[in-house]
Amino acid sequence: MGHLWLIGMMGSGKTTIGAAVASRRSLPFYDTDMIVERDAGASIPEIFENLGEGEFRRMESLAVSTTARAPAGIVATGGGVALDPGNVAAMRASGTTVLVDVDAGVLTERLRDAGDRPLLADPRGIGLRAITADRAELYRAAADVVVDGAGSIEAVCERVEAVCRRS
Ligand code: S3P
Repeated sequence: MGHLWLIGMMGSGKTTIGAAVASRRSLPFYDTDMIVERDAGASIPEIFENLGEGEFRRMESLAVSTTARAPAGIVATGGGVALDPGNVAAMRASGTTVLVDVDAGVLTERLRDAGDRPLLADPRGIGLRAITADRAELYRAAADVVVDGAGSIEAVCERVEAVCRRS
């Protein structure tokens, strides 16, 4: 089995679900946001603020390519990872991409307190709904499998585990 790469919007539960499924299946768990923060020695808002989004995306791609070569496991990706064709190629070459699909209404509820998501604090006021709509097609194009991300974490984990068993 290769990696299971969880892709999709911020707030879709990739980190929580990925960590839970990895632990149940005794697999390594990776999280591209955590890898970037560890390597930079700074939080994501600090990286956006001090180095800019471009530098964050460069570090994120590095986290993807490094993780692609690591032992097979479950990978939670930041919401921007699957928008980059190079990242998508690296993910697909090393496993299966799984879109955790959640609609903008559910995301809005979950991200009410989104203090740690720089994109939602954008002064241009690009809202969550607009970001979700903009990205929907690219996420689907990047996905080998789509799982419904609505409902309880337990229910979504079960759906992701079913993909694991088939991969
Ligand atoms: C981003 C999502 C965040 C984080 C950064 C940018 C995005 O990760 O990488 O704030 O572009 O959607 P999560 O999807 O884990 O929130």
